[in-house]
Amino acid sequence: MLVHIVGTRPNFIKAAPVIRELSSKNVEQLVLHTGQHYSSNMSNDILKDINMDRPNENLGINNGDREEKIFNMIRGIEVYLKKINANMVVLYGDVDSTFSASIAAKNIGVKIIHVESGLRSFDLEMPEEVNRTNIDAVSDILFCTEQSAIDNLINEGFCKSKMFLVGNTMIDTLIKVNKQLTKKIDGIYYVCTFHRPSNVDNKEGLQKIISILKLINKKVVFPIHPRTRKKIETYGIIDEIKYLKNVKLCKPMGYLDFMSIIKYSAGVITDSGGIQEETTFMGVPCVTFRKNTERPITLYPYGTNVLLNSVPNVCLKHLFAKRQKQPNIPLWDGKASQRIVDILLGNYNTL
Ligand code: UD1
Repeated sequence: MLVHIVGTRPNFIKAAPVIRELSSKNVEQLVLHTGQHYSSNMSNDILKDINMDRPNENLGINNGDREEKIFNMIRGIEVYLKKINANMVVLYGDVDSTFSASIAAKNIGVKIIHVESGLRSFDLEMPEEVNRTNIDAVSDILFCTEQSAIDNLINEGFCKSKMFLVGNTMIDTLIKVNKQLTKKIDGIYYVCTFHRPSNVDNKEGLQKIISILKLINKKVVFPIHPRTRKKIETYGIIDEIKYLKNVKLCKPMGYLDFMSIIKYSAGVITDSGGIQEETTFMGVPCVTFRKNTERPITLYPYGTNVLLNSVPNVCLKHLFAKRQKQPNIPLWDGKASQRIVDILLGNYNTL
C-alpha cells in the first residue's frame, strides 16, 4: 500500500495533484494527516479549495513542544504504517511531519519517495534545513523542483539514478486554479506574511518586521500565521501593528483567496519558502525577509525574488518596481505530478 503523509498547509498543496494523478491511474493509496496544522483555516479550508479529499486518517498530533510532537508523530506514523501494511510512503517538503514520517518509514523498512528533494539554504539554524538533509538521507527516490537541488544532491554524494528533475507540484496546483483567481482588493496594495522562528520568535525580529511595514506607505494586507500571532501577543506588541494605519491584519486565508490577493498585488514581503516560488511563477515582485534561500531559481533577475539583507532601501526599490514578465522556469508547467507518477509506475510494478 502506498501512503501519502501530510501535516501542514504546504504539504496539502504539494500532495493534491500527485494524489489526483495516481487516482487517474487507479493506483490504490491512502493519505495520513499527522495533525500538525489543525485550525480549520490552516487545514480543512485549504483541502476544500484545492479539491482534495479529507485524509483517510488524522493522528491529531499538535500538542506540546516541537520535540514532543516529533516524538509522537514518529510513533503514531509507525503504528499506522504497520497497521495498513504500507510498502511505500510519499513525503512532501521539509516540515516536521515530513521529517517524522521519514524516520518512522525508514525504521520499518518502508520505501520513501521525497517530493521537493535537494533544496538547501546551507543554514542549519533553520529547523527545515535539518529536516531536509535528514529526509533526503533516508529517501529511495528524490524528486526535485529545480536544477540547484540536483546539483546539491550530487555534491552530497547521492546516487544520480535516485534523483529526477520533475518540476514543482505546488505550481501544478496553482496552474489548476489560476483561472479562478480574481481581484479582491481595489487599488495598489502589498501582501506580507511572516512565520519563521528566526523572525517571529523574538521581540527584535518582530520589531524589525514592524519597521519594514512602516517604510511601505501603501496598503499592506497581513494574514497572520498562528505562530506569529501567538508571539506578537506574548511580546505585547499587537497594538504597535494595529497602530500602523496602512496595515490590514487578518486571519490566515483559504488557498484561493490568498493566491488571488497575491496575484493582483503590487508586491509581497515574506519569509515563506513556497511564496517565493508562487510569486516568481506569477511575476509578482517578492522580498524575502531572510539571509538565504533554498530556492535560488526564484532570485532576481531570473525570478522575482530578492533577499532582504543589510540594504533595505535597495530591496524596497525592488518591491516598488514595475511587475515583471512571468518568468519561464523549466518544468514549472503544471505537469510535475504526471512526471512523478510516470517515474513511479516505471520503477515499481507493485504500484
Ligand atoms: C510549519 C513548518 C514550516 C512551514 C509552515 C507553513 C516545521 C518545522 N515548520 O511552521 O516549514 O513553512 O508550517 O505554515 O514544520 N498552530 C496553530 N494552528 C495551526 C497550526 C499551528 O495554532 O493550525 C500553532 C502551533 O500550535 C504552534 C505554532 O502555531 O504553536 C507553530 O506551528 P508549527 O506547526 O510548529 O510550525 P509552523 O510555524 O506552522
